[in-house]
Amino acid sequence: MPKPRTFQIKSYGCQMNVYDGERMAELLEAEGLAAAGATGEADLVVLNTCHIRERAAEKVYSEIGRLRREDGSRPMIAVAGCVAQAEGAEIPRRAPSVDIVVGPQAYHRLPQLVGEAAEGRPALDTDMPLLSKFGALPKRRRQGPSGFLTVQEGCDKFCTYCVVPYTRGAEVSRPWAAVMDEARALVDAGAKEITLLGQNVNAWEGEDEKGVAQGLDGLIRALDRLPGLARIRYTTSHPNDMRDGLIRAHAEVETLMPFLHLPVQSGSDRVLKAMNRSHSAESYLRVIARVRAARPDIAISGDFIVGFPGETEAEFEDTLKIIAAVNYAQAYSFKYSARPGTPAAAMEGQVSPQVQDERLQRLQALLNTQQHAFNRASVGRRTAILLERDGRRPGQRIGKSPWLQSVHVETEAPIGSLVEVDLVDGGPNSLRGVLVAAMERAA
Ligand code: 5AD
Ligand code: SF4
Repeated sequence: MPKPRTFQIKSYGCQMNVYDGERMAELLEAEGLAAAGATGEADLVVLNTCHIRERAAEKVYSEIGRLRREDGSRPMIAVAGCVAQAEGAEIPRRAPSVDIVVGPQAYHRLPQLVGEAAEGRPALDTDMPLLSKFGALPKRRRQGPSGFLTVQEGCDKFCTYCVVPYTRGAEVSRPWAAVMDEARALVDAGAKEITLLGQNVNAWEGEDEKGVAQGLDGLIRALDRLPGLARIRYTTSHPNDMRDGLIRAHAEVETLMPFLHLPVQSGSDRVLKAMNRSHSAESYLRVIARVRAARPDIAISGDFIVGFPGETEAEFEDTLKIIAAVNYAQAYSFKYSARPGTPAAAMEGQVSPQVQDERLQRLQALLNTQQHAFNRASVGRRTAILLERDGRRPGQRIGKSPWLQSVHVETEAPIGSLVEVDLVDGGPNSLRGVLVAAMERAA
């Protein structure tokens, strides 16, 4: 197979996978490959896969089948991401048209693997090297108004349902200087907002340039001083790592947006224990109360799993109760999905898909009501919107409020500007804002 000249990356799953996809694109471009347009046929297709739920591996295999072209030829195919890590050499055994398998901690080697594949050699790398991939990646280049930055990766918490500790490896914090350098590069490339990413981002720890121990709040305060950066966000956090300093930052740091994604998964203490979450419903509610005391308008988001093994109707109702108690601005909810190799997959009392369906519907109905109510309650606020993309109608743009709501605005202001609007309409999924005055923030 000839060396590819164009590539396409398809990312599935979480924001960290989106970030990894961007870094792989930068890496391939640094090697002289060009991104194929959306419709163009790429010489190399990278499937950047997710393993967190459902039959993710099955989806990858059917996607591979669809890459065959009408004339019977096919592109060079790389499977990256968490399915690559979990399945490894099993992938080319089942799908011989796969040329490259590369895990989330090894993708800095993608160019070499492409070279090996072009020579017809098997190209597989699912190592978790001691020296992280980040040092081997090129500098960040073009960037939209809102950028992702991985600061922490992996997980040592071992929730019993979750594959992340196995696919992403142990919890590692990137060094202070590396994070600050990448943040500067993102801002230089056009980012107005940075979302710090980590599977347990609020467990980030490191030392600043003076050698002083810092937590995520220290990093956020340093980023707040970065000229040109108007907004800081972070995700995903664990309730047990929500320390006082970070909560205080929500009260004191103006560029830290009033939004917190804090998954609780279940409202039942028995289920939480079986999940190995190491917090209770009560302790989670106490964290939320502390955060709200610091920043009363903060939007709270969460993740929920319904139908965990052994979950009874009463235990499910405890989840509805905690949702009612918190009042979420938005949330993600999932049916429990048995992940091969995780402790929960072997637990007794697996809940039937019918019961899972029914519980998910009830849970989502409640969450949707809360989200809509939150949006309606925002009507009347005057606030800044960061314009991120064009809307469907001419002259219309879509941006984000500080509370991470999508807001439609009629304006000629370019993508990437901050404009001040009055929120006038609150629907279930988005709001409408009316321009007060273009307000480019002098940062
Ligand atoms: N089944 C269903 N949902 C899961 N999540 C993680 N693992 C599973 C699983 N096995 C959900 C959790 C987590 C989010 C990223 O995905 O809610 O917070
Ligand atoms: Fe999916 Fe988890 Fe991997 Fe992200 S880290 S891609 S959510 S399995």
